[in-house]
Amino acid sequence: MILGASGDLTKRLLMPAIYNLACEGLLPDAFAVVGMAMTDLTTEEFRCQQRQDLARFSTRATFDEERWAWLASRLHYTAGEFADAAAYERLRVLVEHVREERSIPNNTLIYLAISPHFFAEVNRQLAAARFTSLPGAKRIIVEKPFGSDLESARTLNRELLEHWDEEEIFRIDHYLGKETVQNLLAFRLANPLFTPLWNAEHIDHIQISALETVGVETRGGYYDRTGVLRDMVQNHLLQMLAYVCMELPRSLDPAAIRDAKSQLLEAVRPLDKTAVVEDCVRGQYGAGVKADGTPAVAYRNEPDVTHTSNTETFAAITLHIDNERWRGVPLYLRSGKAMWKRGTEIVIQFRASVGDVGTSEPNLLIFHIQPFQGVEIRVHAKRPGPQFHLQAAGMRFDYAETFEAARGTGYEVLLYAAFNNDPTLFSRTDFVETAWGIVQPLLDAWQASSAEAFPNYAAGSWGPRAASTMLARTGRQWHESLTRDVLTRSEFLKHAPAVMLNNLLLAFRPVAFAPGETIVQEGACGGELFFVCRGSLEVLRGADTQVGVIGEGEFFGEVAVLFNQPRTATVRALQQCDLLALDADDFHRIAADFPQMTSEFQQIAASRISRADRG
Ligand code: BG6
Repeated sequence: MILGASGDLTKRLLMPAIYNLACEGLLPDAFAVVGMAMTDLTTEEFRCQQRQDLARFSTRATFDEERWAWLASRLHYTAGEFADAAAYERLRVLVEHVREERSIPNNTLIYLAISPHFFAEVNRQLAAARFTSLPGAKRIIVEKPFGSDLESARTLNRELLEHWDEEEIFRIDHYLGKETVQNLLAFRLANPLFTPLWNAEHIDHIQISALETVGVETRGGYYDRTGVLRDMVQNHLLQMLAYVCMELPRSLDPAAIRDAKSQLLEAVRPLDKTAVVEDCVRGQYGAGVKADGTPAVAYRNEPDVTHTSNTETFAAITLHIDNERWRGVPLYLRSGKAMWKRGTEIVIQFRASVGDVGTSEPNLLIFHIQPFQGVEIRVHAKRPGPQFHLQAAGMRFDYAETFEAARGTGYEVLLYAAFNNDPTLFSRTDFVETAWGIVQPLLDAWQASSAEAFPNYAAGSWGPRAASTMLARTGRQWHESLTRDVLTRSEFLKHAPAVMLNNLLLAFRPVAFAPGETIVQEGACGGELFFVCRGSLEVLRGADTQVGVIGEGEFFGEVAVLFNQPRTATVRALQQCDLLALDADDFHRIAADFPQMTSEFQQIAASRISRADRG
């Protein structure tokens, strides 16, 4: 049964997933879907509607008419208001009729694909209509968000548990449907190579980032009551954190895995007043430019968002785990909307050892969750040549190169698990409540004080500057996994050879500056040059005379690096600026392999110097 069968979730994800399962032969013949929603549709119209939507949302390359016909004949629908008891009676009659007609055994899975404010009501109505006492196996799937804070989650749990057993409640977090998230457990269990390293002795810190380029789109009403802490951090990010940091379960038994995850969250140190202020950052996007170059409106001007909204669209938080394994290892979590790129990544930074070979750069293990799917290890390699010089290099496992598997919605695995009574990928009461407990101090603090600096990051940027400062205080920085397209937006790098771009990607260091901040100072010595990803900067000489403006895709600071001389001008951010810094050593190393790069830089530098001299 799907409640909310004419809604968005059903058409975008559930039906394409059910169809995928049908195509893969993973549904039994004695199977049917009975849908209910407020939209007035007959079963025939429901089937047509789903067929049309599937043409848009199916993840398969071709449409299998035969499998669709098989599935369509098993779809049924009844219209009804969620608060109307009579609707549930009609639903029950329909379910029984379909069950008899198709000789379906007593196995019922009820999917609440509805807005969360209906959860409690629908649950009561289902119980009143005796769905909770159906013979045979019965399960209920509850979509996120599960509550809006600790108190409401507890209430919802209480209400559900009044009518269902814990084993019958399947709380969804769609991140657990992602192959790359499930692979976190596989990676840890099946690769003992890493097991001895998985602790505070070897790991410096962990970063979990889930960045999105989209703003709130059409969901302003929902989002303005929610914010990123509730929408992403409390669920998706903490799920990934649990997988990465939990003690390895003794077996794949669902209870053992869920116990390990819950125990990990219980060991997260509660955020006290100081931590909330010093180790957490919130942000809200202002107007800017989207990753594709089109203009983006400020969050407060999005449809259905209040003009004075204090809702955060970005959060970066520092957590600590008080157990033997992780004592002293900070965990940095961050998520934001309207960011410069879409990317969910988990970076494990190992401790650096300063050896004799001239590098103190740490090794990194990066789990690329999406959109690029893979696992990468950043190592150091000897550069080819007679001298012993090291260079950063990447070892990559890429899903697309390794597996032929069909792309799914992520819901196939969740539905299949629920059909088969495997709760591993679903959240238990204790997990959900502990997760709310972790973010609750922050929700309270952020609600109690308005963020006077909102908006504090431009749409399409790397997020608020304070998020970088938060890490910089401990000598760390966010790892921005750069892709070539960021660099090739620049005229200068558009035609650069792939190896040169790869080298630059590994060598660039992201740095962000606030409006008015000075990046290089005339007369100072400088050991780095900068590439502008976002924003614009002014070039000043002498007593604050503006002699030029530098924009996106341009470089500056090359004169000092090329000629080893003091900075010839001051450069100051006009807006929030996202820059990539390239250290002189890296520059010279890469330039040695690509002499063309040096001569082009020299030309740029020479023309700037002569322009300045003329000026
Ligand atoms: C949802 C949030 O849970 O996850 C959305 O409500 C967010 O706001 C989405 O965009 C992100 O999911 P994914 O799978 O695109 O990373």
